[in-house]
Amino acid sequence: MLHDPNKVYIFDTTLRDGEQVPGCQLDTNQKIDIAKSLERLGVDVIEAGFPVSSPGDFNSVIELSKAVNDPIICALTRANKNDIDVAADALRYAKRPRIHTGIGASDMHIKTKFNSTREEILARGVEAVKYAKKYVEDVEFYAEDAGRADIQFLAKMVESVIAAGATVVNIPDTNGYCLPDQYGSKILYLKENVKNIDKAIISVHCHNDLGLATANSIAGLQNGARQVECTINGIGERAGNTSMEEVVMILKTHKSLNLHTQINTQGFYDISRHVSQQMHMPVQPNKAIVGGNAFSHSSGIHQDGFLKNRENYEIIKPEDVGFPSAAIVLTARSGRHALKHHLDRLGHNLEKAHLDIVYQQFLILADSKQGIDDHDLNQLVALHLA
Ligand code: KIV
Ligand code: ZN
Repeated sequence: MLHDPNKVYIFDTTLRDGEQVPGCQLDTNQKIDIAKSLERLGVDVIEAGFPVSSPGDFNSVIELSKAVNDPIICALTRANKNDIDVAADALRYAKRPRIHTGIGASDMHIKTKFNSTREEILARGVEAVKYAKKYVEDVEFYAEDAGRADIQFLAKMVESVIAAGATVVNIPDTNGYCLPDQYGSKILYLKENVKNIDKAIISVHCHNDLGLATANSIAGLQNGARQVECTINGIGERAGNTSMEEVVMILKTHKSLNLHTQINTQGFYDISRHVSQQMHMPVQPNKAIVGGNAFSHSSGIHQDGFLKNRENYEIIKPEDVGFPSAAIVLTARSGRHALKHHLDRLGHNLEKAHLDIVYQQFLILADSKQGIDDHDLNQLVALHLA
């Protein structure tokens, strides 16, 4: 396969890793709706579900495969024949099908989850890839809990599954355990030590248990991974998965990384709200990129600097992520400059002495009230400059 070496493939797992969160379940029509939005956003791969897990998931993978044209449609399996048979069946209408199979790679998982040995697990992984290849050309292998796996064993596993035909190798930090330099070093080790590593794309799949999912994903990309597995708003098991909007905007903002995606970033705000609403998962106000406060400026020092030159306090333009607009929020920490900005907007072009009077009254009001709106400002002017 020939790849643009600087392109990062976006693998969305909102409908699989995200949807398995309690309370986030969607019916097939809701999933189709989100899948179409993901297609418009420009994602490369949609993980549509885990078909063997339930008839609903099986059916959703069938319907999504019919409804979506451009992205690869991926279905998850464990490393066994039945899971793979069911996934292949569910993918029968996909224009570009991918089977995502895998098994635990850490000694913890090998011993206490599978009651097995490294040799046996390696053989099961290889067999699963070979079996999936009978159905589809595109087979992704995940080495679950790779974040805590012995690096030499992990390298052997990766080498063996590539030899068996894996086109993508996923190195999940399933428990969100790694530090960014540790995770980045793992990817570099694999790049430097696995035979034929360039025959496959290395994928990063990071969970957010320590709040490091995005940082770890970026570290992986800096060290040679070229696919990132992520969700809208970072939803997912426990503390969530890597947030798509964060990774994509980091790559877009830091041109020096020399990595790019094909995502239409102006769609982020809409899809964030759509997923949040459908999955009953509110977006925290201070969430990077799409949180309600992500482009609000409320302290006097910041507001003053922002009004002089937006770039003093704005590294991303709100319109680049489809955010309605930046906001100068009036609070008791706001300065005269911010107040004047809003009074001018309302048509009250006050001279300095009048502005001073209104500003003193504004501070008293702002100390006693959450948020000052246009009605409050009109009232202040009417009451104190009458
Ligand atoms: O977190 C994980 O390891 C996973 C795999 C099933 C890919 O979600
Ligand atoms: Zn996961």
